Amino acid sequence: MILVTGGTGLVGAHLLAALTQKYDKIRAIHRKSSNIDDVKHVFSYYFDDINPYFSKIEWMEADIVDSTSLEKPFQGISYVYHCAAIISFHPKAYHKMRKVNIEGTANIVNFSIAQNVKKLCYVSSVAAVGKAVKNNSIDEDCEWTVENSNYGYAITKHGAEMEVWRGTQEGLDAVIVNPGIIFGAGFFDSGSGSMFKTVNKGLKFYTEGVTGYVDVKDVVKVMQQLMEGTIKNERFLLVSQNLSFKDVFRQIAKAFGKKEPSIKISKFMSEILWRVSVVITVITGKKPMITKHSAQSIHKNNQFSNTKIKDAIGIDFIPVNETIKRVCKEFSE
Ligand SMILES: NC(=O)c1ccc[n+]([C@@H]2O[C@H](COP(=O)([O-])OP(=O)(O)OC[C@H]3O[C@@H](n4cnc5c(N)ncnc54)[C@H](OP(=O)(O)O)[C@@H]3O)[C@@H](O)[C@H]2O)c1
Repeated sequence: MILVTGGTGLVGAHLLAALTQKYDKIRAIHRKSSNIDDVKHVFSYYFDDINPYFSKIEWMEADIVDSTSLEKPFQGISYVYHCAAIISFHPKAYHKMRKVNIEGTANIVNFSIAQNVKKLCYVSSVAAVGKAVKNNSIDEDCEWTVENSNYGYAITKHGAEMEVWRGTQEGLDAVIVNPGIIFGAGFFDSGSGSMFKTVNKGLKFYTEGVTGYVDVKDVVKVMQQLMEGTIKNERFLLVSQNLSFKDVFRQIAKAFGKKEPSIKISKFMSEILWRVSVVITVITGKKPMITKHSAQSIHKNNQFSNTKIKDAIGIDFIPVNETIKRVCKEFSE
């Protein structure tokens, strides 16, 4: 049987929608606080009648940092898709991210080894891949160092990958995927989904920083193909195209029929903004609008290579403009 962690998140929910079309029974863990209705909402983008598919999921309550709670969910499991994580740029979230992303992954790896799981698929991130040498694009071999990627989320995703590689040394077969920014329907109030909501409200600002984007449907497709194939103990960058924030915001605005963002934020303005944001956070105690890291990352020009996964499984990624048009339509529905 297959076990999915993070099934109540963006990747996990779309993965469950794909797996329930192929398998009779899938087990998924959720926390007491999880909103399973969000998963039903994602299923409604796939199926007119969600019940025949949703009922194939056996939900079990567990927290990946609480190893006792994982004992039952791991019984009889042969394949594990590990999507659960905390994603945050907030410096205060660092210790929680270490706990969930690194220790939680260590627990998943340990149970997978103990239960003789046949294969584990871990969803990492481009954040756990190193920087490019000179002007080359970034690929799976770029060495990650704490010095050049020293922000909390990246450190914890790198740490989690180390736990997976440690597992492979102890006999576990595993694959790791490193997606860029993932676009998909649902979860429009958080993470990458909130980019759609923000532009829909009328975003005026843009930067010319570049990063990689990928459709959640492609992420899920690659994960399944890697799990069902013979490739093991490799990691793969998942990026359809590298685009500027300006271009992506422009495409989203166009798809919503809204005015395109027209005010360019310079590096200097970002530097001021994150400092002002720190002061506001100290005074109000509210979450920062922008952090030092996010202010700097929105100006970086990161070009990611998708050659390795294309050569491995021959995938043709969905072009980002198609993804944006579809997600904007789903948002509006
Ligand atoms: N979204 C992106 O653009 C993006 C890009 C690259 C990589 N990734 C990676 O892709 C994976 C999935 O991301 P996502 O966008 O689907 O994230 P998400 O929507 O924020 O979902 C995170 C999931 O992790 C679960 N989770 C968090 N802490 C947990 C814990 N202690 N025990 C059990 N479950 C826990 C959450 O459960 P609750 O519902 O209970 O909160 C939720 O199901 C993550 O590993 C992320 O690092 C995401």
